[in-house]
Amino acid sequence: MLKYLAGILSVFLITATFGTAKAKELVIYSGRSKSLVEPIIRQFEKETGVKVKVRYGDTAQLAVALLEEGSKSPADLFWAQDAGGLGAVSKQGLFDKLPESIRSKVPESFRNSVGTWVATSGRARVLAYSPKRVKPEALPKSIFDLTDPKWKGRIGWAPQNASFQAFVTAMRLLVGEEKTEEWLRRVKANGAKSYPKNAPIIRALADGEIDLGLPNHYYLLRFKKSDSKFPVEQTFFTAGDPGNLVNVAGIGTLKSSRHAEEGLTFVNFLLSGKAQQFFVSETFEYPVTDEVISNTKLVPLDELLKLTPKLNLEKLDDLDGTLKLLRKVGLL
Ligand SMILES: [Fe+2]
Repeated sequence: MLKYLAGILSVFLITATFGTAKAKELVIYSGRSKSLVEPIIRQFEKETGVKVKVRYGDTAQLAVALLEEGSKSPADLFWAQDAGGLGAVSKQGLFDKLPESIRSKVPESFRNSVGTWVATSGRARVLAYSPKRVKPEALPKSIFDLTDPKWKGRIGWAPQNASFQAFVTAMRLLVGEEKTEEWLRRVKANGAKSYPKNAPIIRALADGEIDLGLPNHYYLLRFKKSDSKFPVEQTFFTAGDPGNLVNVAGIGTLKSSRHAEEGLTFVNFLLSGKAQQFFVSETFEYPVTDEVISNTKLVPLDELLKLTPKLNLEKLDDLDGTLKLLRKVGLL
């Protein structure tokens, strides 16, 4: 009889355990696009048994949704495409503080000082060029050199692109409104050609339309993946130049979350060697930890940190001011 009862009890316990495991579900608001992050989310589900529901959207719009929903938000985590969106949510006190064990995994400049979010991958602004038409030693050392008449009609940029706009926001913070406006006007007057986004800049460099371009670092790497001899190269400006801005995607856990433990498991997973390697190999982004096999196409993390201008990435949230400026100078 006792044996029989123990049997029933253990079946009951197993069912109960499975029951709770099944009920575990995370809701992520993701400003990162589905095509970019879905495989790694599925991998997390497979490894942990935790189901993940994702609301995909524009980073700034999701931040606004979180501010409106406040403590009633169904979201457990906010995974943003840029630090500006994370900063907005953090400022309203909606994030929990992340444990030191997580924060210490990423360099200081890739997390905020109050410890509510950490970067999950990085992307750098670079100087792309045609090695056929520009010798490496003749390359401009700073974005300010792009106003030189010798580059007249030879530069390509993408003023409508979010990453270009984040770079302009950084420039406003680094050198001020006036100098940024003057730079935009002078490069425009120097015949800079506008492209709708980054990939067409790379193609225009290969096609001989332009000789220098200002894209994010990973576009050329994608072209090179299918054609290793693709006739475009890229480099950085002098260390600290605004043109080398490294921006990050990052994540924080929300105070309103009822699945705090699973949320932290997800953050830890994104910083694991496996997930970091995924970002490096599949999306050619920069890792934010050094737990990965370095990619020969990417400069090492410590070098990257020296190249990027010193800037609190959270402050890159005044998109409106940047759009106003771009309209004022006739670039939008
Ligand atoms: Fe991009």
